[in-house]
Amino acid sequence: MKKALTLVLAVLMLLTAVFCFAGCGKEEKKVLKMATNAYFPPYEYYEGKEIVGIDAEIAKAIADKLGMELVIEDMAFDSILTAVENGSVDFGMAGMTVNAERLESVNFTTSYAKGVQSIIVKEGSAITSVDDLFAEGASYKVGVQLGTTGDSYACSDFGEENVTQYTTGNEAVSALLKGDVDCVIIDNQPAKAYVANNEGTKVLDTAYADEDYAICVSKENKDLLEKLNKAIDELIEDGTIEKIINKYIKE
Ligand code: ARG
Repeated sequence: MKKALTLVLAVLMLLTAVFCFAGCGKEEKKVLKMATNAYFPPYEYYEGKEIVGIDAEIAKAIADKLGMELVIEDMAFDSILTAVENGSVDFGMAGMTVNAERLESVNFTTSYAKGVQSIIVKEGSAITSVDDLFAEGASYKVGVQLGTTGDSYACSDFGEENVTQYTTGNEAVSALLKGDVDCVIIDNQPAKAYVANNEGTKVLDTAYADEDYAICVSKENKDLLEKLNKAIDELIEDGTIEKIINKYIKE
């Protein structure tokens, strides 16, 4: 009888120890690390010390679904792919366009939003539409954000010598105001936000290119890609993604 009791006690103690080891007290969630470049409103930008925006909110909704804790790391846009490839972050989400070149080094999830490349000029500029950039004899200086699709289109369309790469879109717009470049090619929604903050600039109505935004994941991490895709599908299905986008983009 006494032996049996001792045995029961021993088993109980062992179980408690095991459970405690697995997370006694406060439950620790696994971290899901996202890389972004947080100077790209309304997709990602700082509100005080916090990174907010469409991507930040969708990422949070995805992390919640996976029962993980989202941590966002801000870096230069052109460092995101490398960070994803070398595994220092779990995924990259930065209003990032899916394209063939990037697909050589990373995988992309299902697209969660559409993007449009557009053109910012100074009020009263001779450039009034995309066509003006391609007109015979036209030679304009173009500003872009380094490593973006706007950067690669501009370089192939107008020649590297006519393109200046800035670290952020805002810096490109400041250069436009100073007269260092004649236009800025960048995603439409951030373009509108930059223009709203920089008097004397405007976004042309004509689109330069249409794009799909998606999350990039290391080719090594098929498991995460599947999980993200499942979460995105569900968040599209139940209207969460649309709701988040409509919260930041009103038109
Ligand atoms: N959509 C463009 C691209 O993928 C620009 C994205 C820039 N994103 C950012 N967070 N700065 O190249």
